[in-house]
Amino acid sequence: MGIRVTPVAHDFVAEISGIDLARPLAAADRDAIQAAIDRYAVVVFHDQALTDEQHLAFARHFGPIHSSAQRARHQGIKHRLAIPEIADISNLDGESNVLAPDAKRRLDWLANRLWHTDASFREPAGALSLLYAHVIPDDGGDTEFADMRAAYDALPDATKAQVEPMIAEHSIWQSRGQLAVTRYTDEERATLPPVHHPVVRTHPTTGRKALYVASHASHIVGLPVPDGRLILMDLMEHATQRPFVHRHRRRVGDLVIWDNRCTMHRARPFDTTKVRDLRRVTTMDVAA
Ligand code: SIN
Repeated sequence: MGIRVTPVAHDFVAEISGIDLARPLAAADRDAIQAAIDRYAVVVFHDQALTDEQHLAFARHFGPIHSSAQRARHQGIKHRLAIPEIADISNLDGESNVLAPDAKRRLDWLANRLWHTDASFREPAGALSLLYAHVIPDDGGDTEFADMRAAYDALPDATKAQVEPMIAEHSIWQSRGQLAVTRYTDEERATLPPVHHPVVRTHPTTGRKALYVASHASHIVGLPVPDGRLILMDLMEHATQRPFVHRHRRRVGDLVIWDNRCTMHRARPFDTTKVRDLRRVTTMDVAA
């Protein structure tokens, strides 16, 4: 039996069934998954059982892999996961205990609750993210996705023309600063300097235009900071209106892939004294 792609909405989010991602991936299945990602931007596989090694091996079929930026901005602590390419999106410390309320890594991780696109603060930025659910709390902790292609399409023509040439500066310290999370050393800050990206991107495969903004975006290059920031805030408010947003109600064993070049996402609240163990691999936005 081949894989089956079932759209959740017309053009945004699909579920893919009929495949065990722990097994070697056939070229035809890889291509069908890539085509579904290109079309739907977010795809969900339920009931998977993946080790970290299998998770990473599957991700490697879709491009070169970023090493997680967590080790750069959390120096001098014990990290829980052995593989540097797997980002620890859990609320657990190096000993697998729930992070204390004021733990620096927990406060940093809370910024995932802001609308963002993975690794927009890096060069190259993130292309695909593959997030796998090991343990989830009984309530809450869903992930929401915004379709930045549909959001771009819905802009008035005058706004499209205004924002098309704009370049935004992105920095991880911008998103953390919004939550007053600033406890980083000079060495940690120096590892992730700001980078520039266009506000409107054309997808390299589909040719569709999408807004590329995020809580990491601090201002528009060449404009006074407040003017640029207001433009970014307006674009994010526009892009996160309900018609553009899908909420993924997660199950243990879900692997969700999204294309950071044309989506934003955010985690939703949950009781952070309960365990939520998600792990993510992100590919680099480089030409195939
Ligand atoms: C992420 O921001 O990459 C993870 C989202 C989540 O924790 O739901």
